[in-house]
Amino acid sequence: MQEHFDATIARDQRVEPRDWMPDGYRRTLVRQIAQHAHSEIIGMQPEGEWITRAPSLRRKAILFAKVQDEAGHGLYLYSAAETLGADRADLTERLIEGRQKYSSIFNYPTPTFADVGVIGWFVDGAAICNQVPLCRSSYGPYARAMVRICKEESFHQRQGYELLMTMMRGTGAQRAMVQDAVDRWWWPSLMMFGPPDGDSPNSAASMAWKIKRHSNDELRQRFVDMTVPQAEKLGVTLPDPDLRWNAERGRHDFGTPDWSELKRVIGGDGPCNAERTERRRSAHEEGAWVREAATAHAAKQERRARAQEGAVA
Ligand SMILES: [Fe+2]
Ligand SMILES: [Fe+2]
Repeated sequence: MQEHFDATIARDQRVEPRDWMPDGYRRTLVRQIAQHAHSEIIGMQPEGEWITRAPSLRRKAILFAKVQDEAGHGLYLYSAAETLGADRADLTERLIEGRQKYSSIFNYPTPTFADVGVIGWFVDGAAICNQVPLCRSSYGPYARAMVRICKEESFHQRQGYELLMTMMRGTGAQRAMVQDAVDRWWWPSLMMFGPPDGDSPNSAASMAWKIKRHSNDELRQRFVDMTVPQAEKLGVTLPDPDLRWNAERGRHDFGTPDWSELKRVIGGDGPCNAERTERRRSAHEEGAWVREAATAHAAKQERRARAQEGAVA
């Protein structure tokens, strides 16, 4: 069994739910997919706060669609975790009780509408850097979910960038608002890729199993290289005095994020951790009647289908 698994990974083929897999592989995947699903769902909150306050019907419709997409991403991913034997209700409990993590980035506040644009540009942009290689992840259901999700993430990134372009063509106050949001989100966005490679305990196993294809630092570098020219085109500066093109490497050099901040935010002590988890808990409790009604409806449908089969027989 182990041999078959190893050969599948070596040949770059997909592992499917029915296949034998090592316990560590299954555990690592459940953890990663659950954290990813939680991030999509918690990620609805910072921007969701702006749906009622978006400045036009067009912006409201776009933002509404985007936030709804994130709900869909969460649902695909919980389903992928279920193919590994995880129980979705249990995963939700773990999130609400703080026993399972979600991306640190969603613990930062969104005080202005420019934050909506910068989240699309940076956060969805970082998500694309992270997730495009996951389309080739060794676990089939995860890889396939990623293909669909990535298509929507590019829409998210473009809507953010287009929103910022529009604001940059506006008043001085609007341009200042964009620059302020860029200054606040840049470093937390770099932290989205996780701790530096030397300090990332789970990375080596994930790379060997081909769950992950690139290291945290490599993905961070790609994000910086992709974003710098976009910032120039937009007309904003990135808040890093060490950021410069390195002709020898053919890549940008950049400063070191404040890793103690990342540790703090992951540890539960970011600006909005308590608020995000509490909102998730109350939404879950308020939705109890929907889950009960859906379960009752499904049971009724099944009884009817069975009764009909009985009648035919
Ligand atoms: Fe998403
Ligand atoms: Fe997104």
